[in-house]
Amino acid sequence: MFYDTASNAHRMAHDPFKAIVAPRPIGWIGTKGRDGSLNLSPYSFFNAVGDRPKMVMFSSSGRKDSLRNVEETGVFTTSFVSRALLEKMSLSSTPVPYGTDEFALAGLTALEGRVVDAPYVGEAVAVLECRVTMVTMLPDIDGNDTDSHAVFGQVMGIHIDERVIRNGRFDLGLADPILRAGYMDYAGISSLIELARPNQRASG
Ligand SMILES: Cc1cc2nc3c(=O)[nH]c(=O)nc-3n(C[C@H](O)[C@H](O)[C@H](O)COP(=O)(O)O)c2cc1C
Repeated sequence: MFYDTASNAHRMAHDPFKAIVAPRPIGWIGTKGRDGSLNLSPYSFFNAVGDRPKMVMFSSSGRKDSLRNVEETGVFTTSFVSRALLEKMSLSSTPVPYGTDEFALAGLTALEGRVVDAPYVGEAVAVLECRVTMVTMLPDIDGNDTDSHAVFGQVMGIHIDERVIRNGRFDLGLADPILRAGYMDYAGISSLIELARPNQRASG
């Protein structure tokens, strides 16, 4: 089948787009408002987009609280979502009024960033502390405004729980990430395949 996205005539109960571009990592975005309120929300329009310097991006469908806070403060954190934190991650996406602390709502520990003034999830096995480099509305092909807003951040510092380091590596088997798989599904990692690139040794 083929469907054109302008009419969205996929004739399925749910739009398959988010299941096709999947699984996606989840950026669990921690921010603080100018008023000092704490905020935590998951974003799966999220990824690493550069490594020299290290850059990540998340995208807000509409003007949400995380977007407001990064515009106010210029910083955010992203906490790693392990399987053990799946339910709490989901709880933290509850639509609540601005200023509601989703760390408390989900029963999580909010810790102060070491180099940025934004909170992160104390229970997470890895955390990126980021400073905003760019916030941009994503115009469509005709140049019209949309209500999608991408936030780019440079990673200034990284926390790693020593318990997930094995043989000198951040061990994904131990870290046990949860990925967004489309619809209401999530995926875990059940196998890792090591394959060196043609010009690279296996540890690259
Ligand atoms: C796994 C998961 C991924 C999500 N990804 C996004 C996303 O990429 N963009 C978005 O706008 N909302 C996303 N949401 C919904 C937001 O988390 C939700 O709207 C939340 O209330 C926003 O919180 P905030 O207003 O405090 O930023 C996602 C929700 C879940 C559970």
